[in-house]
Amino acid sequence: MALLPILQYPDERLHTVAKPVAQVDDRIRQLVKDMAETMYDAPGVGLAASQVDVHERVVVIDVSEEGNDLLVLINPEITWYSEESQVYEEGCLSVEGVYDKVERASEVKVKALDENGKPFEFHADGLLAVCVQHELDHLDGKVFVEHLSLLKQNRILTRIRKQQREAKKAAAAEKVTV
Ligand code: NI
Repeated sequence: MALLPILQYPDERLHTVAKPVAQVDDRIRQLVKDMAETMYDAPGVGLAASQVDVHERVVVIDVSEEGNDLLVLINPEITWYSEESQVYEEGCLSVEGVYDKVERASEVKVKALDENGKPFEFHADGLLAVCVQHELDHLDGKVFVEHLSLLKQNRILTRIRKQQREAKKAAAAEKVTV
């Protein structure tokens, strides 16, 4: 088991479109384990393989309060979206410190493979519906902030770049004083 480093927006690799998993084998099961450990450690309620720089269609989700109900989605597809939508305040492990309202379908139907390669289908609403749509966006190279207005996206980018510059400066300063 291993904690995997999470790519941070605006890292270009987050815009890679993930390829379908050709075979659900031990390599994929190990990836799922590592992704789940990384998600629980963060902590977060969902993680797409794209966020750990693996560009294959694998997602882990756990929206339970106790964090003991892991949902593994391999090659997931949304087969139905409700016409009704809902607005949730979303955040993302790849965009630290940013939360904003995103409108998405309030219900979806999903089909996927589980970690044994067995197909299954389910219906999602509430937070799970949000999470599924958010994570599937990641597999298509889309980060949630790209649902926001360009004005908001520019503000977020400016703030993140400033934070990254300051972190770099702080790291450099530490080296000098050692
Ligand atoms: Ni995310």
